[in-house]
Amino acid sequence: MANKNLNAAKKARKDEFYTQLEDIERELQHYGPHFAGKTVLCNCDDPFESNFFKYFALRFNQLGLKKLICTCYNGSPVQGDELPLPFAEFEPKKLAHKVVITEVKDLNGDGAIDLTDVRILLQNDKNTISQLQTGDFRSEECIELLKEADIVVTNPPFSLFREYIAQLVAYEKKFLIIGNINSISCKEIYPLFAQNKVWLGPSISSGDRKFYVPDDYPLNAAGCGIDEFGKHFIRVKGVRWFTNLDHKKRHEELILVCRYSAEEYPTYDNYAAIHVQNTLDIPCDYKEAMGVPITFLDKYDPDQFDIIGITDNDFPVKELLIKGCKRYDRPYLKGVRKIYRLIIRHKHPQVL
Ligand SMILES: C[S@@+](CC[C@H](N)C(=O)[O-])C[C@H]1O[C@@H](n2cnc3c(N)ncnc32)[C@H](O)[C@@H]1O
Repeated sequence: MANKNLNAAKKARKDEFYTQLEDIERELQHYGPHFAGKTVLCNCDDPFESNFFKYFALRFNQLGLKKLICTCYNGSPVQGDELPLPFAEFEPKKLAHKVVITEVKDLNGDGAIDLTDVRILLQNDKNTISQLQTGDFRSEECIELLKEADIVVTNPPFSLFREYIAQLVAYEKKFLIIGNINSISCKEIYPLFAQNKVWLGPSISSGDRKFYVPDDYPLNAAGCGIDEFGKHFIRVKGVRWFTNLDHKKRHEELILVCRYSAEEYPTYDNYAAIHVQNTLDIPCDYKEAMGVPITFLDKYDPDQFDIIGITDNDFPVKELLIKGCKRYDRPYLKGVRKIYRLIIRHKHPQVL
């Protein structure tokens, strides 16, 4: 039992990654009009440390928000940057709580946001029926808040990502959340992309991202460290924004200059699809199925391509599986097993 608790605690610690304000700003600038008159929920966010809360509180009027709700899970080990008043003066609580803002007044009319007159409600979740921790996004009280929300924006716990996104979809919510691109190969997530119910946000498409972590978090990977203010950070690869809010970039057609040739684009041993090494190498004139890297999704325009499958999980492109080949495997080229691929097709292949 003790071990079980320890493992659960270790797992929970792995979820303590705090998003930088600049990463939030870079992404949110693509969605302005979506937020007017809306209730925003940040449901994995301690308002005393979350930059998501900070972002929406400071831009409450600029975005024309109706309401901002922020809920915090039990325990909150890292203090955030300087917090907007009145929160800086407020004794941070380590217990689950929520903050609800319906109004941010600019009393002196100087354009600066004055948060001294906002309405704050803090309430402990008395969830005694279920086994869930207080403030858990799956708890009854948090689900009631979810129902009230129009848009959910946060960086949820990575260890619960699939469940988290499934809940948003089940409650038909609009959302903008941080996740890892590799989660797309999961059977819970891939279909959402194939059906154009979820897509990637525009601001992150390569490299790694810096997240603050608790002081006792192991800093043993490359690129981790302690900044000039003594705050511990790690760098994470594969970070992306997952959303169902429309944005301009996903309607920008990818300019393609390569043409198909059997030599340059071999067909897989086990799938009736050609291998395309890089997204920019997609031949503009090929009518059939093509295997592309998962990062194709950074450039995906739904008016240009259809996503028809993904190899290596429960959603194989059955009709493309070459007879006698093993199901659910990655693609092979001349006997060599390749990394998993998205299978796509042009909607309007060029006729040259
Ligand atoms: C990746 S961190 C991100 C924190 C914050 N959203 C941010 O971006 O800075 C995920 C947060 O979710 C919290 N959390 C973990 N499990 C949760 C659950 N079941 N329900 C709600 N929050 C949870 C963790 O305590 C952690 O603070």
